[in-house]
Amino acid sequence: MSETIYPTVAGRPSIVLDHVSKIFLRRNTHSFKEAFVGWIKRARVRADEFRALNDVSFQVGEGEAVAVLGLNGSGKSTTLKLVSGVLEPDGGRVLTRGRVAGLIEVGAGFHPDLSGRENVYLNAAILGMNKKEIDETFDAIVEFSEIGEFIDQEVKHYSSGMFMRLAFSVAIHVHADILLVDEVLSVGDAPFRAKCARKIKELTTQGITMLVVSHDMNMVKELCERGIVISKGRKVFDGPVEEAVEFLRA
Ligand SMILES: Nc1ncnc2c1ncn2[C@@H]1O[C@H](COP(=O)(O)OP(=O)(O)OP(=O)(O)O)[C@@H](O)[C@H]1O
Ligand SMILES: [Mg+2]
Repeated sequence: MSETIYPTVAGRPSIVLDHVSKIFLRRNTHSFKEAFVGWIKRARVRADEFRALNDVSFQVGEGEAVAVLGLNGSGKSTTLKLVSGVLEPDGGRVLTRGRVAGLIEVGAGFHPDLSGRENVYLNAAILGMNKKEIDETFDAIVEFSEIGEFIDQEVKHYSSGMFMRLAFSVAIHVHADILLVDEVLSVGDAPFRAKCARKIKELTTQGITMLVVSHDMNMVKELCERGIVISKGRKVFDGPVEEAVEFLRA
């Protein structure tokens, strides 16, 4: 592939991670009882600092679709949460341009006791749409999701696939500039996954910027041109997606 797949270098960056680190505390008490005994003994609760991301830097250009690859626990979801603003970095900077819509966990942001309809309004509002905009887009959201009459049921009775369909449909209809997709597509059935893949491609050609996390290498290769591999919190590869997938297999 040619160098032109990295508009990052020349064009406007949409996402910038600049020497980003994220530290979590890993507590070594395993039970309430141990914690209680520790408290009685006035022992300090042991908490190791654990660096989930370590000095990670990359830029994503406007309209680029980039896969974030790595083994379980390598730091992919942490990376997306930092880009979405759910988490703050402990070192370095995260910059984004425009409206960020994140599908980070299935059903995240959905309230179980509200109906599908109410959740669409709630989520679209959180993502920055006003009532009129949502009214105008509502039918398209429901149509894409194929939820049908279930739209007026409480979402706690939805299957995980139905959840994902509605959440994905909201995310693609809010006119986001950046779309973050973490694994959620994997719960959709084959026809819906294919439909999502087509929609994602369409959005990419319209200039939306995407970060995709998936363990489905075929989907990743279909959706993204570029792949970043993370291993134990460090960026270990950044380049054409085919090579990134090979790097991960090696
Ligand atoms: N809120 C948290 N508190 C403590 N540790 C966390 C927290 N979130 C993530 N971690 C740890 O950070 C590391 C990276 O987690 P992350 O969820 O980013 O992995 P991942 O690459 O998305 O993995 P997977 O493929 O399993 O989804 C893991 O070791 C995890 O235990
Ligand atoms: Mg994850």
